[in-house]
Amino acid sequence: MALSACCNIVCSSNINTSLPSFPFKFPSLWPTNQKVKMGPLSVSPMGFGTWAWGNQLLWGYQESMDDDLQQVFNMAVDNGVNLFDTADSYGTGRASLDRMQIEQIGIGQLHWSTANYAPFQELALWDGLVAMYDKGLVQAVGVSNYGPKQLLKIHDYLKDRGVPLCSAQVQFSLLSMGEDQLEIKSICDSLGIRVIAYSPLGLGMLTGKYSPSKLPTGPRGLLFKQILPGLDPLLSSLREIANKRRKTMSQVAINWCICKGTIPIPGVKSITQAEENLGALGWRLSSDELLQLEYAAQQSPRRMIQNIFQTR
Ligand SMILES: NC(=O)c1ccc[n+]([C@@H]2O[C@H](COP(=O)([O-])OP(=O)(O)OC[C@H]3O[C@@H](n4cnc5c(N)ncnc54)[C@H](OP(=O)(O)O)[C@@H]3O)[C@@H](O)[C@H]2O)c1
Repeated sequence: MALSACCNIVCSSNINTSLPSFPFKFPSLWPTNQKVKMGPLSVSPMGFGTWAWGNQLLWGYQESMDDDLQQVFNMAVDNGVNLFDTADSYGTGRASLDRMQIEQIGIGQLHWSTANYAPFQELALWDGLVAMYDKGLVQAVGVSNYGPKQLLKIHDYLKDRGVPLCSAQVQFSLLSMGEDQLEIKSICDSLGIRVIAYSPLGLGMLTGKYSPSKLPTGPRGLLFKQILPGLDPLLSSLREIANKRRKTMSQVAINWCICKGTIPIPGVKSITQAEENLGALGWRLSSDELLQLEYAAQQSPRRMIQNIFQTR
């Protein structure tokens, strides 16, 4: 059984930055010694997602963006970020140890469970995860898109084989904070598993730059068209808090994820976005602000659609 078909990779060490660094270093935007424990690893409280770094259909990637993306990566590393989320399916299946020029992956995560469509394959995948860990190909293992029930099952299975489950990656944002997310978070807290929040900006909707009359091209535009018309209460709250705090809406949306005890991995496509998102670190929203944002999110009639492979 090949594990690679649904392996989501988080590199948190041995990152190759042999290419030239970003030409100048920003003044430290956050106390970079304040790393977070994730299993055996010590990671930045926010990572960066790389889905857009190679995906044409959803994200409009072009090869001409590569130099800029390299600069984004170098700048992030220079500024203390040591968590990058990638997958073998990203870059149209081009991600690999060779391309990443590393010998060991920080956290090898199952991208999703097969429980919804091929449950008989599930145990083979779990065994693959154990094998990767035992062979030292990964420093730690995790899952993604696992719901509360399936998460408990794999946790116990791995534990019996002496493999600690270190992370659970799930769609988690002000637009995706249903009962499942809360249950997953509480299970993870009780078992010492870190929650990694993917799509913390709702694919860009929470940045405030899109509106029903200003939609992105491609499939994202179709999705945003459904959701954005009901999003005024949430976007207004984000804007109000951002203005009061002299932050941006993206920074507030990402900081909310951090305050909820998760490690967000926003996707970034430019130095400007990366620099802005780094400004989500080093401060915290107040409990009143968190409540205001969550109340506003509940006023929004539509949420993000969930990944079709997300299990219960
Ligand atoms: N395990 C899974 O199944 C799964 C699923 C989805 C995602 N992920 C991971 O999670 C990562 C993050 O999620 P995501 O990329 O789906 O969505 P996201 O982080 O919610 O949104 C990222 C997009 O928002 C826009 N953006 C980001 N920062 C911005 C800023 N400061 N100002 C303005 N626009 C900004 C950019 O796109 P535009 O400039 O084009 O608007 C960017 O690509 C992915 O890259 C991937 O690594 C995992």
